[in-house]
Amino acid sequence: MDFRSHRALCFSSVSTFLLIVVAAQFGLPRAAIAAAHSARSSGDIPSMPASNAQLTNKHLNARVNALLSTMTLEEKVGQLVQYSAGVPTGPATDRQDYKTMIAAGEVGSLFNITDAKTTNMYQHIAVEKSRLHIPLLFGQDVIHGYNTVFPVPLGLAASFDPEMIQATARMAATEASADGIRWTFSPMVDIARDARWGRIVEGSGEDPYLGSAIARAYVQGYQGERLSDPTSIAACVKHFAAYGGVIAGREYNAVDMSDVTLRQDYLPPYQAAIDAGAVTVMSAFNSLNGVPSTANPYTLTQILRNEWGFQGFTVSDYHAVYELIAHGIALDSATAGQKAITAGLDMDMEGNVYHTRLSALVRNGQVPEATIDEAVRRILRVKFALGLFEHPYVNENPSAYVATPEKRALARKAAEESIVLLQNQAHLGQPKLLPIRPQVHTIALIGPLGDANWEMFGSWPAKGNPADVVTLRTALDQRMKATGGKVLYAQGTEILTQSEAGFAAALDAAKQSDLVLMTLGEDGPTMTGEASSRAHLGLPGNQEKLLEAIVATGKPVVLLVFSGRPLVLDWAAQHVPAIVEAWFPGIEAGPALTNILFGDVNPSGKLPVSLPYAVGQEPLYLSQLPTGRPAGDVNLMHPPQNAEEKFLSRYIDAPNAPLFPFGHGLSYTDFDYAPVTLNAQQVSLEKLQSGAPGIQASTDVRNAGAVAGTEVVQLYIRIRGASMEEPVRQLEGFQRITLAPGESKHVTFTLGLPEMSFINAQSQRVVEQGTEYTVYIGGSSQATQSAQFNVVK
Ligand code: BGC
Repeated sequence: MDFRSHRALCFSSVSTFLLIVVAAQFGLPRAAIAAAHSARSSGDIPSMPASNAQLTNKHLNARVNALLSTMTLEEKVGQLVQYSAGVPTGPATDRQDYKTMIAAGEVGSLFNITDAKTTNMYQHIAVEKSRLHIPLLFGQDVIHGYNTVFPVPLGLAASFDPEMIQATARMAATEASADGIRWTFSPMVDIARDARWGRIVEGSGEDPYLGSAIARAYVQGYQGERLSDPTSIAACVKHFAAYGGVIAGREYNAVDMSDVTLRQDYLPPYQAAIDAGAVTVMSAFNSLNGVPSTANPYTLTQILRNEWGFQGFTVSDYHAVYELIAHGIALDSATAGQKAITAGLDMDMEGNVYHTRLSALVRNGQVPEATIDEAVRRILRVKFALGLFEHPYVNENPSAYVATPEKRALARKAAEESIVLLQNQAHLGQPKLLPIRPQVHTIALIGPLGDANWEMFGSWPAKGNPADVVTLRTALDQRMKATGGKVLYAQGTEILTQSEAGFAAALDAAKQSDLVLMTLGEDGPTMTGEASSRAHLGLPGNQEKLLEAIVATGKPVVLLVFSGRPLVLDWAAQHVPAIVEAWFPGIEAGPALTNILFGDVNPSGKLPVSLPYAVGQEPLYLSQLPTGRPAGDVNLMHPPQNAEEKFLSRYIDAPNAPLFPFGHGLSYTDFDYAPVTLNAQQVSLEKLQSGAPGIQASTDVRNAGAVAGTEVVQLYIRIRGASMEEPVRQLEGFQRITLAPGESKHVTFTLGLPEMSFINAQSQRVVEQGTEYTVYIGGSSQATQSAQFNVVK
C-alpha cells in the first residue's frame, strides 16, 4: 500500500484556512482545492473514520446542550476534572476521596485503573449517585498493547507497516475496553530527533512523513469504525506540541523553535491524527518559545481549533496545570487555572487546580462561564459519542486474559517486522554470519537480556504480564533442542553494574560454542520512556567491556541490541560482524528473534531514527538543512564524506553522517534498484493547482538473491531553488513489497502538491515555481538512484 504524504491530509481536510492562504498566494482555483480535498478519499489512502463528524452530529449536540442547561457551575467544573485513581504515573496529589467527589458530580474522568470491577464500582457511583448521572470516562496509557504487549512504538515504527500497527491498536482497544477503559493516551506522535530524550521510544522516530502515516494508523485502530462500538476507545494525540524538541534532549525542558520548523517537521503527525478523527489531544509539558503548552492559545486554540477544525477536547498532561507556577507564568494556582482554561485547555489531569479554583474564577468574573460551557460541551460530546450514557458498565467477569495463538501471531508478526538487521558481515570464510547455519551446534547465549521477560515490555507495559513473555532463551532452547543442538546460557553481567563476577562463566560458555549471541542494551522499563533522558548513549554499565572480552575469544559474535533509543554502537560496528536492533519486542520477543536469526523470517525492519557514531552528533536526523559549506555533497551521506578542507560544516573528531542512517535495514537477500524514471521532466504549477495529478516517479526493484524478502521501498526528495533552504533529503513515500527470488516489481509513487510542498517564511504551505526537485528511490535514505524535475509556471 502506498501511504500518501501527511501533507495530503494537510491539503485535504480541515486545513481550508491554510489552503486558502496558499490559494491566495498562487491564485489556486477552487478546483485545485477540491482536488486536494479529494486526495483523502483517493485509492491509496485508507478510508478515514469520520469521528469529527460523529462529534458534530446534530442529535448528539442537542443532547449535550440539554444536559448542559441542567448543570450547576460546580457540576460543569466537575466534568473538567480528572484524577489518577491507581498507581500514579507522576507526582501524586494525594486525593483519595474519589467516591465522595464522584457522587457530588465533581469528577469527569479517572485514569490508571486497569480492572473492570473497579471501573464499574466508580461508574456505579457516577451513574447512580450523582445528581445528573453523567458517566465517568476512564483513561489509560495503552501505548503499545494492553494485555498483549507489542514492541515499543519506536520498534513498531521500524516496520514501516501502518496496516500492521493499526491491527495492534485495534487489539489493544478491544482488550482495554473490556476493563471499562474507553480512552487511551495514545498515539504519542512527537517527532524525536535527539536520542538523549528517553521518550523517543514512545513515538515513531524522527520523520514527519512516516510519523503521520503511523499516527493515522493508531487512531483508526483505537477508534475503529464508530466510537460507539463498545470495543472502540478514544485516541488522545500527544504531547501537543513539539515535546520531542526539548533542548539538549533533557526531559521536560523548554522547546525553542521557529514556526517554519514547527509546521514543517513537528506538527504534521498531530494534524494527521486529528484528520484521521482523533477526538482528544493532550497538551505537552514543555513550553514552546516561552509559552507553556498547557496554557498556549497559539497551539491549543489557533492551530488546533481555528486552523485544523478540531472538535474534540483537550486534556493537560499529568499535573501540568499546577506546574504553570513552576514555569513561572502564574504566581498561584488560580492564575494557573485561569491561563490554562482560557488558552483552550479543557480538562485538568491530576492538577487539582480546576477542581479547586475554577468555580471561584467564574464567580469573580475572571473566567467567563461560556468558556467553561464550551469545555464541558466538548467533553460531553465525546462521552455521548462513545455511547457511555447507554452502556456505562462492562462485564465484570470476563474470562481471564489468555495470550491465544491469534494474539501471539500478531505480536510475533509485529516483533518480526520491527527487528532491524543493522550489520551482517563475513566471518571466518562465511560470507555473512546470519542467518545462523544448520552446522551451528552449540550457541552461547550471553548477556542480561537473553532471559529477561519484564524487560521485553519497555516503557508503558500497560497490563502486560511478564509470564506471557517468551524469552529468547526459551525460544532458542526449543529450537536448538529440536535439531539436536544446545544452548549454553550465561548472563555475564547485569544491565547496570560494574561487577565482573559473571564474566568468567560467560567466557567459558563462549569458548565452548560455535556461535555467540550477545543480548545487551537498556533496561526498558526504567531507562527508556518518561523521565529517562541520558547524557551517555553507550551500552550501560560494563556491557561493552563484556562484549569486548567475548569478541576477543575469536568466536563469531552476533550482537542483539535491546534499546528504546539509538545507542552509540561504534565499537561494536567495527568489531562485531552481525548486529541486530531488537528494540523491546513485547511478549513474542523470543520466537520473533529466533525466526529472524535462523532465517525463517527474512528481516525487513528499517530504522525510523538515525544511529549516531557519538553522542555529540545529537540531535541527529536525516532531513537537516543544508549549509553553505557542506562536507561533501550534502552533510549527511554515508559513508562519511568529510574532506581534508578545514572550513567545512563538520566535526573534527567525528563524521557528520550517522553510523546507521534513517531507513537503513538489511535483508538476507539483495534488492537491485533500476534507475528512477519520471513521467515528465517538468511540471506546471498552474496545472498542478488546477488538479493535475503531479509527477510519477518509478523504478523496478528486483530480488537478486536466493530467498524471498520484503523490502521497504523509500522515496526521498530534495528541493532546490525555493525561497527557503529545504532539507538535504526528506522522505515523501514508502511501500512495503515482497519479492520471490528473481522476481521484479515496478513501483510507482506520485508526487503531487502535498508531497512537493513546504513551509515558507510566512508559515504558509506552498509549492514554488522555478524550483528543482531531485527524487531518490532506494532501500534507505542513502539511495543512490535519482532523477530530477523542475516546477515551471
Ligand atoms: C505522561 C503522559 C501520560 C500521563 C498519564 C504523563 O506523565 O507525560 O504521556 O499519558 O502521564 O499517565
